Amino acid sequence: MEPTDATQLTPDEIQALEEKYLFATYKRSGLFCSHGSRVYVYDLSGRRYLDLLSGISVNSLGYNHPRLVKVLVEQGQRLIHTSNLFYNPYQGILAKKLADASGMAKVFFTNSGTEAIEAALKLARAFGHAEGGKDKSLILTLKNSFHGRTFGALSITTQEKYQAPFRPLVPDVAVVEEFTSAALEKAFSDKVCALVVEPVQGEGGVVPLPVELMQAGRELCDRYNALLIADEIQCGLGRTGRYFGFEHFGVRPDVMTLAKSLAAGYPLGAMLGNERVAGCFQPGDHGTTFGGGPLACRIALEVLNIIEEEGMIARAGEMGDYLMEGIKTLAARHSLIGEIRGMGLMIGVEIGPAAKDVVNMLLDRGFITNAAHDTVLRLLPPLIISREDIDEFLAALDAVLGEVEAREPQNQEK
Ligand SMILES: Cc1ncc(COP(=O)(O)O)c(C=O)c1O
Repeated sequence: MEPTDATQLTPDEIQALEEKYLFATYKRSGLFCSHGSRVYVYDLSGRRYLDLLSGISVNSLGYNHPRLVKVLVEQGQRLIHTSNLFYNPYQGILAKKLADASGMAKVFFTNSGTEAIEAALKLARAFGHAEGGKDKSLILTLKNSFHGRTFGALSITTQEKYQAPFRPLVPDVAVVEEFTSAALEKAFSDKVCALVVEPVQGEGGVVPLPVELMQAGRELCDRYNALLIADEIQCGLGRTGRYFGFEHFGVRPDVMTLAKSLAAGYPLGAMLGNERVAGCFQPGDHGTTFGGGPLACRIALEVLNIIEEEGMIARAGEMGDYLMEGIKTLAARHSLIGEIRGMGLMIGVEIGPAAKDVVNMLLDRGFITNAAHDTVLRLLPPLIISREDIDEFLAALDAVLGEVEAREPQNQEK
């Protein structure tokens, strides 16, 4: 078979091509995506799936928001790419909008989350060396964090399964193993140039950090002249019911990273810094071919306009409360449901070892979710999700939990 016309391929042919020609980095489920609309994705046979994962926090505005499709087509016809050797009209205006929304001063655009983290780590080292010489290089990270898979980001991604095959990693990284102010304080010294946190850990099982920990982090960074870096790649841009996750904690970071939903699925990330770090990068210190291209930036600008004009942040809070209440109601009847955590439309439900089964059974019924940290059902629905969509999902979850509990006698219904 000549794989020239993708629309003619059967699922078996798609799978066979991937098995033969792709590195085996992904364990895919059996969903073969054809197209998407609003909160739904459709498979090749036309079957509809309600997406409660948003392409892992990317499709926050759904699959085909008319305003995004319009700017994508318009800008695609006008100018897709120019190099960073030249100006384009959209980088500056997008940077200003992000700076205004976050209180940051400067922005560097990347193509992905992991690259935004790389930029933040380089900035942290540049800051540390300028303030305290080469010895001020230590970067602190929290246990169970996830910041990406390139070497710098992987070095602060403290999950054995991701790090073990690739050691040795970047040096001068220390892990804070307990989420307590005392443990954090013990890890600090004048050698620390930055503390990196996800305000709500995503991949680590949807864990909002304790408020005292974030506040102690801010205080210690000030005391030891280090940077507080908030990785908002998964939790930022309205998902938690605030523009940025850090707003829930009463602290302001010095540096923040964004990606995922920033350009609604077109690759774009950003590293933002406040006045403390505004002078830390000089021409030649960092760069990228694609980051901040006119098409990506124009889409991102429209994403932010939609978030603001269509009330998406308040909606995430409201729909998040509705979904959380629905799950709590199910918890009264289902012993499989353990702790329920989250903020806004970023919710994790402790299910235990059955989490992957639950995810697969939900997929069979037409609902996309995933299992984070192996035991947690992770829900990151599009911010445009409706109460009716949520009701449909809750009914399916109720049925699936009932089925799993019936087959495992130790998990009988409460
Ligand atoms: C909090 C966080 N940081 C960084 C990353 C890495 O982003 P990317 O996959 O775009 O490199 C992710 C991706 O899941 C993430 O959730």
